[in-house]
Amino acid sequence: MEKIVSLCKRRGFVFPSSEIYGGLAAVYDYGHYGTLLKNNIRDAWWKHMVQTRDDVVGLDSAIFMHPTTWKASGHVGSFNDPMVDCRKCKNRFRADHILEEHGIAADKATVEFINFELDKLRHAKKLKCLVCGSTDLTPARFFSLMVKSNLGSPTEELSEENVVYLRPETCGGIYLEYKNTLDSARVKLPFGIAQVGKAFRNEIVARQFIFRTREFEQMEMQYFLRPKEMKEKMEEWKKARQEWYLFYGMDKKKIRLHEHDKLAHYASEAHDIEYDFKSLGGFKEVEGIHARGDWDLSQHSKFSGVDLSYYDEATKEKFIPHIMETSVGLNRLFFMFIDHAYTEEKVPAPSGAEGGDEERVVLKLHKDLAPIKAAVFPLLKNKPELVKKAKEVYDALKPLFMCEFDDNGNIGKRYRRQDEIGTPYCVTVDFDTLADDTVTVRDRDTMKQERVKVGELEEYLKKKLENI
Ligand code: GAP
Repeated sequence: MEKIVSLCKRRGFVFPSSEIYGGLAAVYDYGHYGTLLKNNIRDAWWKHMVQTRDDVVGLDSAIFMHPTTWKASGHVGSFNDPMVDCRKCKNRFRADHILEEHGIAADKATVEFINFELDKLRHAKKLKCLVCGSTDLTPARFFSLMVKSNLGSPTEELSEENVVYLRPETCGGIYLEYKNTLDSARVKLPFGIAQVGKAFRNEIVARQFIFRTREFEQMEMQYFLRPKEMKEKMEEWKKARQEWYLFYGMDKKKIRLHEHDKLAHYASEAHDIEYDFKSLGGFKEVEGIHARGDWDLSQHSKFSGVDLSYYDEATKEKFIPHIMETSVGLNRLFFMFIDHAYTEEKVPAPSGAEGGDEERVVLKLHKDLAPIKAAVFPLLKNKPELVKKAKEVYDALKPLFMCEFDDNGNIGKRYRRQDEIGTPYCVTVDFDTLADDTVTVRDRDTMKQERVKVGELEEYLKKKLENI
């Protein structure tokens, strides 16, 4: 974990937010390479979920929504986590997680049950602070995950009427735009609505880098269907989503599907796609696939008074569609891809450099996800003819791919810098280039080098980057 956090900061992937003011817990900023990687993951998801399908359309709904939305969905009043505080070191923990560490399942348990179990551990002298080891922990109490804001006149008090919440999940906007989408997009059941956007949760425990943060991005798809279609569509989406991970280079052994045994009262089936994080020491949830029944549209229909039922022309029936969702955190996927790609390996020193083997850190990211696709170097910085030619090559490539020009330090160091950010190809302009108009292209993973004609470089890279 330390190595990944350090690489992310040093190379401009992820920064702790507001660092010059001492930071803001569980909030992060994304630097240049981080933004590029995050955008590429988002685009890969969108391509799979919307672009290549005929039955899913897109949406970009607002973060602020009518306050009744969250009453209808049940979030106000019941989107809580049980927490305990350590009176000594002042750290705060999820009580259900503490119980789970002792083999006691406490997901969706009542506060009475949690405190009863915590007391048993206390009496057995097994209840300890996870940070300082103190036994002085408070009883559990529930803590709302909803983040409040207020709209309207700045002089107004934050009252029940003007409190608005920053959405805790993006799907709320999809339910509220279901009818407008149905009326405008010429869609028929079964069909999906997908969106990517920010969500906010007042998470109690925030010690796992970007795994669990208070501000994060979700990529969610709600698939509206007839009740009898649920089983078949659930199987289709479970398969399709797992294939997406494998397509983008994840190791089959490190991805698994976990079925929930405890379900929300409206759900009939729920699965998590889990990834075996090196840096978190085991399998953790990255994506949820849930059968939500007709709960969401029924609730919004009831609270708004608007009829959200669907008229099926084939059967002449009117009913509230059921929903199957796929929900994944973009930041969590970012962490997963870096965790998986991070590799330390011994390699021969680059030709021309002194010494034998050396260690390199390389991000073996799928080429579609790599922030920079090709880096262009002049062999030597102090040879104007090499720099001029390298700049020409770079200028020709940069409208086509995200490229980088680097003339700083020896060639070995430049390769290492690009390896660390996962650049698949490095192009070097050397003295042979001036004679025969060819360049060296070096492959990140094999480190093999090929001579390619400058006039054919664009086609060569296009083929390599597409042919994965
Ligand atoms: N609409 C369903 C829903 O929001 P969830 O299991 O609460 O379900 C879905 O969240 C996904 O969103 C998770 O699998 C995770 O990838 C991501 N996620 C949830 N809370 C998060 C947080 N605090 N930080 C980062 N990602 C989070």
